[in-house]
Amino acid sequence: MEFVAGVVFSTQVSTKYLFIDFQCIYYHYYENRTGTGVNSIKWIQTLNTDSWTGITADRNMLNSIQSDSSIRPRSNVDQLVIGNWMDENFCASLGCYDTILADYLIGAVDGFSPYEQDVIVKKLRAHLNPAGKLYLISMNPIPDHASFPGDVVGEVRRARDSCILLAGHKPYREFPLHWTLRHLEAVGFKVVQHKSMTILHSEKSIIRQLNVGRSKLPYMAVPIRDGMTQYLNDLE
Ligand SMILES: C[S@@+](CC[C@H](N)C(=O)[O-])C[C@H]1O[C@@H](n2cnc3c(N)ncnc32)[C@H](O)[C@@H]1O
Repeated sequence: MEFVAGVVFSTQVSTKYLFIDFQCIYYHYYENRTGTGVNSIKWIQTLNTDSWTGITADRNMLNSIQSDSSIRPRSNVDQLVIGNWMDENFCASLGCYDTILADYLIGAVDGFSPYEQDVIVKKLRAHLNPAGKLYLISMNPIPDHASFPGDVVGEVRRARDSCILLAGHKPYREFPLHWTLRHLEAVGFKVVQHKSMTILHSEKSIIRQLNVGRSKLPYMAVPIRDGMTQYLNDLE
């Protein structure tokens, strides 16, 4: 029995998808392709699939997906479900799949089940059919230091994550390619290919991250809020 995994990593940071509400998708397949897109479900809908199941741990994410008129699960075929990988009852309700697409799942896990990333990799394997394929898309952590102008992205990330922490929330946590390869192989996946891609940061995507920081301001004590407001404005 052989399991295979394809891994796609971005070598540069892009924060553009970190806080966007999307799903991680499982799907039975005819076609074997992978893609990251802004909207995994929209992409899945372009494929010739027997059925697909989209999973999220977050009800607000589910609601926003369901209210998007371009998302059209086929009735009695496709499903959008809410559940957490660390919930054994939820896992027991899932079957096995020919293809699993874990599209920016791992970086988001700290927000929903901290410190369980390795356990989730193991669970992904458990829900894959023999000879099935896992496509895992992730991003390298943003480097702590970079030369100008790349350091702007690092500083915006620090400001954004500071706001998230000061609000008492948990930032996402990305893992590097070598972490992913090590953990895939540890649970028996054979990595057949991995590919790294550079993601460019636009002014728009950087400002979006500043706005994520701003969305956390109401949760802070007033003096901290004032200081962080000023700092976010200065960065912009
Ligand atoms: C950044 S989003 C996925 C991005 C998306 N696939 C795309 O098209 O860009 C991360 C997803 O992982 C899910 N997630 C994170 N931890 C989870 C867990 N422990 N159980 C289930 N879902 C989880 C979140 O609920 C969210 O739907």
